[in-house]
Amino acid sequence: MIPYGRQNITDEDIQAVVEALKSDYLTQGPKIKDFEDAFATYIGCKYAVAVANGTAALHLNALALGVKPGDRVITTPITFAASANCVRYCGGEVVFADIDPETYLLDIKEVRKLLEASPKGTYQGIIPVDFAGRAVDLEAFRTLANEFDCWIIEDSCHSPGGYFFDGNGNKQNCGNGNFADLAIFSFHPVKHIASGEGGMITTNNEELYQKLLMLRTHGIVKSNELFSNSISFSGGVDNYPLWYMEMQELGYNYRITDFQAALGLSQLERANQGLQRRREIAKMYHESFQGLSFIKGQSGVVEGHAYHLYVLEVENRLGLYNYLREHQIYAQIHYIPTHLMPYYRQFGWKEGDMPFAENYYKHCISLPMYPTLTDEQQEFVIRTIIKFYEA
Ligand SMILES: Cc1ncc(COP(=O)(O)O)c(C=O)c1O
Repeated sequence: MIPYGRQNITDEDIQAVVEALKSDYLTQGPKIKDFEDAFATYIGCKYAVAVANGTAALHLNALALGVKPGDRVITTPITFAASANCVRYCGGEVVFADIDPETYLLDIKEVRKLLEASPKGTYQGIIPVDFAGRAVDLEAFRTLANEFDCWIIEDSCHSPGGYFFDGNGNKQNCGNGNFADLAIFSFHPVKHIASGEGGMITTNNEELYQKLLMLRTHGIVKSNELFSNSISFSGGVDNYPLWYMEMQELGYNYRITDFQAALGLSQLERANQGLQRRREIAKMYHESFQGLSFIKGQSGVVEGHAYHLYVLEVENRLGLYNYLREHQIYAQIHYIPTHLMPYYRQFGWKEGDMPFAENYYKHCISLPMYPTLTDEQQEFVIRTIIKFYEA
């Protein structure tokens, strides 16, 4: 069976988890900070906060940015629903804007149209997604967001190691915090780095960082300088007993465990190797499908693409999907547009609202893409696709 994505667990990974399990901490131990520091270095940002999963990361971001009922936030329909749901968790309104049919990313021109059509202050934020691993031009989004006083959350779940070049020709890593206020990653098994469940928030903003740390653990603070002294002690503010802590906001338990962090850390050490293999696989697909009339579009070979997914647009997608399954190739569809989910239809979203996203969805298929996919397996996938169309 060849899946579309798959984790790669080595003996070193297993050893790292075993060591964490044998240590004094199962959770809230040293591996979490080690993972955060190593991840921040890898991405090139100042702060990283490890959390239970990517969805928790998004929720904490929306909370830290103060999303509240009535706020309006713009995002893409071609993403996992969690990118939009974080706004709903806080009672905000999700406004979808269509994708660019070439890149499949949130179309900045569509976002501008929305922002310009209403008075400033109508929208509070934008959530672009590095869909499939292709980096969003966040410099352009930052300029637009500044014009309209919006914050930006970059959903980088698909793009650790991805990058784009800014207007000065500088390489900008996905999630590096130079343009977005906050960025998020997921460590679900099909992602580049797997920790079972797990997520990371990255930022360069110290105030948001402190807030995220607090919200991750019930809204509790434990350091003297952050106390508001809600209970007075005879010794005064400099003499808090060691057990003292304050719950200052309504937070959550969105912590990751130490053994998951140990696994994530061990996986991170091989992240560049995995990325390189993903790029090789993408190149091979690209070269094999060039010039074939039944393939309408493809991810191609794009500099800075992290290739979480390798997406094709094809004729007779359902036929191909079923044919591949008959041959034990489990391709996947990413994504059914979020605005057409029953939950979002209740807000009035319907077919025809996002023509490019809906057309993309009719034809898209994600081919097997993971570092341990062998050349033989990939050749079999390519041969089977070509055979289907030639029959
Ligand atoms: C684009 C995107 N955003 C958010 C998430 C949510 O991450 P998680 O599954 O870790 O909660 C995912 C993962 O499935 C995703 O692909």
